[in-house]
Amino acid sequence: MSEHVLATREAALLIIRLNRPEKKNALTRAMYHGMAEALAGAATDESVRVVMLAGGMDFTAGNDITDFATAGERPANEPGAAFAFLEALVDFPKPVIAAVRGHAVGIGTTLLLHCDVVVASETARLQMPFSRLALVPEAGSSLLLPARVGPAKANWWLLSGVGFSGAEAAQAGLATRAVPDHEVEPAAMEMAHALAALPPGSLAESKRLIRAPHAAALKQAMDAERLAFGERLRTAEAQAAFAGFLKKKG
Ligand code: COA
Repeated sequence: MSEHVLATREAALLIIRLNRPEKKNALTRAMYHGMAEALAGAATDESVRVVMLAGGMDFTAGNDITDFATAGERPANEPGAAFAFLEALVDFPKPVIAAVRGHAVGIGTTLLLHCDVVVASETARLQMPFSRLALVPEAGSSLLLPARVGPAKANWWLLSGVGFSGAEAAQAGLATRAVPDHEVEPAAMEMAHALAALPPGSLAESKRLIRAPHAAALKQAMDAERLAFGERLRTAEAQAAFAGFLKKKG
């Protein structure tokens, strides 16, 4: 497990917590591996009934841009750590609750589409700045976001890359609830424990049925996005955008 991903237990709840606060929980490949590993363990561990994904002051600033900048050094057809994590999340058979505070950028927003319950801080800052980085949507968001919030909002959020609040996310149906910042974790924990008290076989079967109608289309969308994203990462305009971020920060 990565030092930046902590997995802790609270009765039947497994909490996977991103812990790289100095970089706003930007996700390295080791962190994706850590999360995927924790999910794989929880999938087969009968004592885990619900998983909660959380950060701290920030959920995550998205993929580590240093890793994006060095994508050219890895084989173009390599599936990538982010993809392996997303697959583990999509296939995860038990309820997943996300507790979102602060920044939730890029995959920090799109992964929410694969969580069963999302509790967001009213003041959280969500954003999918793919076009600003000369990239394309990922994590099935090109399919799932319009289905979730309607094409008008999805188009604007995905194409312009503008940020929006947790309150707006809840209003649009991307988050289950938006609550004051200090209530995010207690509210998420309460909902997680409520689910954990229900019959696990019923929850797993319900989750499977809720997702089944879109499963094939989602796989197709994720495969298409993965190809386009991999190509975009290596373009001069994307590399210039990454260099711009790193230079500004360096
Ligand atoms: N990759 C790598 N480093 C990142 C990062 C990322 N995605 N997001 C933040 N960081 C680093 C910053 O470089 C900075 O490092 P430093 O202290 O060594 O300079 C540190 O985290 C704190 O971030 P900072 O930008 O100073 O915080 P902020 O509050 O001013 O802004 C964000 C927060 C999230 C708005 C801003 O960091 C940001 O835009 N990050 C990039 C988000 C992004 O585009 N992600 C990819 C999506 S596909």
